[in-house]
Amino acid sequence: MNDAAWRALGASSTVAAYAALCAAIYLRARRQKTAAVRDAAALSGNGGQPSTLVLFASQTGQAEAIAWQTARRLHAAGTPARVMELNALDAATLGSTERALFVASTYGEGDAPDGASVFAERVMGSPSALASLRYAVLALGDRQYTNFCGFGRALDAWLHAAGAVREFERIDVDNSDPAALAEWHARWGAAADLESSLEEQAASFAQWRLASRELLNAGSAGAPVFHLGLVPSHAGAMPHWASGDLVQIAVASDPTRPRDYSISSLPTDGELQLLVRQEQHPDGTLGSASGLLSSTLSVGDTVALRLRPHRGFRLDGNESRPLILIGNGTGLAGLRAHLRARAAAGRHDNWLVFGERQAAHDFLYRDEIEAWQADGVLQRLDMVFSRDQPERFYVQHRLLQSADTLKDWLRNGAAVYVCGSLQGMASGVDAALRQVAGEALWSELSTTGRYRRDVY
Ligand SMILES: Cc1cc2nc3c(=O)[nH]c(=O)nc-3n(C[C@H](O)[C@H](O)[C@H](O)COP(=O)(O)OP(=O)(O)OC[C@H]3O[C@@H](n4cnc5c(N)ncnc54)[C@H](O)[C@@H]3O)c2cc1C
Ligand SMILES: Cc1cc2nc3c(=O)[nH]c(=O)nc-3n(C[C@H](O)[C@H](O)[C@H](O)COP(=O)(O)O)c2cc1C
Repeated sequence: MNDAAWRALGASSTVAAYAALCAAIYLRARRQKTAAVRDAAALSGNGGQPSTLVLFASQTGQAEAIAWQTARRLHAAGTPARVMELNALDAATLGSTERALFVASTYGEGDAPDGASVFAERVMGSPSALASLRYAVLALGDRQYTNFCGFGRALDAWLHAAGAVREFERIDVDNSDPAALAEWHARWGAAADLESSLEEQAASFAQWRLASRELLNAGSAGAPVFHLGLVPSHAGAMPHWASGDLVQIAVASDPTRPRDYSISSLPTDGELQLLVRQEQHPDGTLGSASGLLSSTLSVGDTVALRLRPHRGFRLDGNESRPLILIGNGTGLAGLRAHLRARAAAGRHDNWLVFGERQAAHDFLYRDEIEAWQADGVLQRLDMVFSRDQPERFYVQHRLLQSADTLKDWLRNGAAVYVCGSLQGMASGVDAALRQVAGEALWSELSTTGRYRRDVY
């Protein structure tokens, strides 16, 4: 690596350290969640200040982490606070709330993240009178997207139109900008726990060695897809992660934007495995991170990698339910990690619906999937190859075709996990799910954690 690249990575470490700090505080806050809420209830019950609602709208967990951090700061400053996902909030509760702080990210093309989709439709879709509410909005987004902070802005506009009173102007955060985040946190008093901790270090970038790389789709009409195996470059215990989690890869040419990849293995596999599609820019150069992983790095080289818990896509709470796993392309990574966890747990009530182009070239992890089918780990398997027949046929079409089976699985309490392309696949699957399940059940799935997505 040259000097500029190292300097760039140095800058990225500062951002990474801040993010790690947020993650560490979040982890601790999460563990103290019950206590914090209990304390908050006790404080308000004792005639103290009324509790502040800290509401989050999050897809991959950043807004949720900041919400918990905000609540902890409020709590440390003597203000009781309750943290809640926006989808868990109804119009009546909001109507009787005196003070609410919203931390809201944006997904899709200026849309609400999954954790706020029901709120956006149900509550924001109807007129409300919120004159007794004081509020503030922290909007998370990325200026690379056309509709910067689209959902945070829409939420702010809706609250304002409903008569709610802003405590201060909305703060828009571009790509986790530390200055904008500091401005928000400064509102709630000094941090109680900014000391470094083991948790922070665990969440920071570390060097991992590429142990193996294999092209999985030779001859494909699509871009090359690689299976990668990585191990920590320093000896020691394998760090922990759960199926559903992500990693971030630091890129020297773009130090403020690490790239996310879904982990496709479990720590017990002894390797952190990824499924990476090699991006190519229109000028023929390779994508920064996917090019690094699929081409620039040689086996034996190291890369800066950080584990990123993705609580919204873990199995937590759904372990005893049947699972419907739906995805396409590299989305198989996240689904494979879940299937490995299910196989290890002896749970065989799994249905995989996976889409790619052609069976001859794009049947990723074929041996493993066929072995799961033979062993019964997959109770049902639908491989959907869009180009193996004259008309294009995708996973959402298979779901509609299998509507009765889908209804049966949902009636039996199944949870739905979707991983892969946001455009086309995830939006099509969402529409199919709404059509088959009906709007009421779709909302219930969304608000009770039975519908989880890792889509990009
Ligand atoms: C939650 C999540 C999970 C993900 N999981 C996976 C996964 O498991 N596997 C996987 O393969 N991917 C995954 N991704 C996508 C991944 O994070 C990257 O976005 C992807 O690999 C492309 O990154 P890159 O650095 O290679 O490409 P970049 O260099 O960032 O390029 C991406 C695009 O940006 C534009 N662009 C950038 N630079 C230029 C330029 N110089 N000229 C022209 N156009 C340009 C082009 O449109 C290009 O196609 C995931 C994303 C998210 C958010
Ligand atoms: C697939 C995808 C779509 C996104 N769309 C937008 C967008 O339209 N506007 C925007 O400002 N940010 C967009 N973002 C950026 C996220 O809002 C931002 O990364 C945010 O910090 C994520 O927070 P979360 O982890 O709480 O979901 C998008 C990110 C991804 C991965």
